[in-house]
Amino acid sequence: MKGLLTENLKLSGKKILLRLDLNVPLKDKSITETNRIEKVIPTINFLLKKKSKIIILSHIGRPKGKVNPNLTLEPVSKKLSEILGTEVMLIKDEINEKLTYKIDSIKNTSVIMLENIRFNKGEEANEQIFAKKLSKLGEIYVNDAFSCSHRSHASIEAITKYIPSYFGIQIIEEVNALKKITSEIKKPVSCILGGSKISTKINIISNLIKKFDNIIIVGGMANTILKEKGLNIGKSINEDGCKKIVNEIFKNVNKYNCKIICPLDVIVSKNIDSSGKNKLISEIENDDIILDIGKNTISKIESIISNSNTILWNGPAGYFENPLFENGTKQIAKIISTKTKQDNIFSVVGGGDTVAAINKFNLFDSFTFVSTAGGAFLEFLEGKNLPGINAISSK
Ligand code: 3PG
Repeated sequence: MKGLLTENLKLSGKKILLRLDLNVPLKDKSITETNRIEKVIPTINFLLKKKSKIIILSHIGRPKGKVNPNLTLEPVSKKLSEILGTEVMLIKDEINEKLTYKIDSIKNTSVIMLENIRFNKGEEANEQIFAKKLSKLGEIYVNDAFSCSHRSHASIEAITKYIPSYFGIQIIEEVNALKKITSEIKKPVSCILGGSKISTKINIISNLIKKFDNIIIVGGMANTILKEKGLNIGKSINEDGCKKIVNEIFKNVNKYNCKIICPLDVIVSKNIDSSGKNKLISEIENDDIILDIGKNTISKIESIISNSNTILWNGPAGYFENPLFENGTKQIAKIISTKTKQDNIFSVVGGGDTVAAINKFNLFDSFTFVSTAGGAFLEFLEGKNLPGINAISSK
C-alpha cells in the first residue's frame, strides 16, 4: 500500500491532522467500551515520539450537521487524556482562519481534539470548501480511521486533495489483516456468519463463496434459510422475501465448491425469559422461538474450525445478550481463540455485535485480529473499494 506513515518522514514540529474513529458507545455521556480509543494509541505515540503537534478529528453519532450537546467529544477527549497520560484539549471553535492562527501557536508534542466534526454541514456532504478550510489547520493529514473509510466525507476523502496525506498504523494493520482473508488466503478457509438479516450479508456471501471452503451460517440469517428450505421455524426471527437470495447462494455453492453449513440443532424456548431446550431443526413447533445454536451444531463448527488455517467470524449465533442463550456464541469464541493459540491459525473477528460478544466473554485479545469497524468491515468483505482508502492509495 502506498502512503504509509514511515519512520523517515519529517514530522518533527509538524501539525498533523489525525482522523480517528472515536465513535465509541456512550451511556449518559459515559463511555461504555474503549476498544476504538485503545487501538489508535500506537499511532498517537508514534507521532508524539516524532515531536509532532497532533490535531485529532473525529465524529461521534449522527448529529447531521448540527451542534448537539449530547454528542460532544468531551468524554472521549477526557478518556484519551487519561489513557495517554497527557492533556488532550477539546477545541470547540468554528473551523476557520482564526482557528488556524490559534492552532499555529501550539507546542510540539501537544495533543488537541476538535469538537465532533459532524457538527459541520460540510462534513457528510464531502464539501470541497469545508475540506479545504479543514486542511489549512494542519500540514500533514493522517487517516487512521478504517471504520469510517467507507464514508465519502470531507475529513475522510475530500481533505486528501488539499494536503499531503498518509495512512496511520492502525488502518494499515486492518487492511493487511482483511487482505489475508480476502485475497492472500492460507487455505482451508472458513467463516461463520451470524446476525439477523441475510439480505445485509448477501453481497459478502457472494464474494466469499468464490474463495472460501466453508461458510457456516448461524443466527437469524440461518432461520431465513431454514424457512426457505421448507422447515418450520416457529415464531423465530427471520426475513421475508428472501427466496431468490437463498436460491442464489445454493446455486453458487455448486459452482465454486464451497460448503454452506446451517444449524443441525438449536436451542428453542416459548419466550425469551425462560431457559431453552435443545431440539433438532426437524422438531421445531409452531410456538417455538430459536434463540441459539445447539450442541450438535457446536460440534460441527468445532470440527470445521479444527480443519481450517484461516477463520473469519462476523455475527453472533443467537441472543447472546441473555445469559440463557449465550452458549453458542461463547463456544464459537472459545473454539476460535483456542485454535488461534494452539495452532497459530489466522483468525479475524469483526462487527459491532461480535466485538460486544467477545468483550462480554473477556476474549478480545484472543484472536489474530479484531476489527472494531462495522459498515467498513462489511463493505471490505463485499469486495468494495473504500473511498477513504482509495483517496490516499490512488495518489
Ligand atoms: C461506525 O461506527 O461504524 C463508524 O463510526 C461510522 O459511523 P456511521 O455509520 O455513522 O457513518
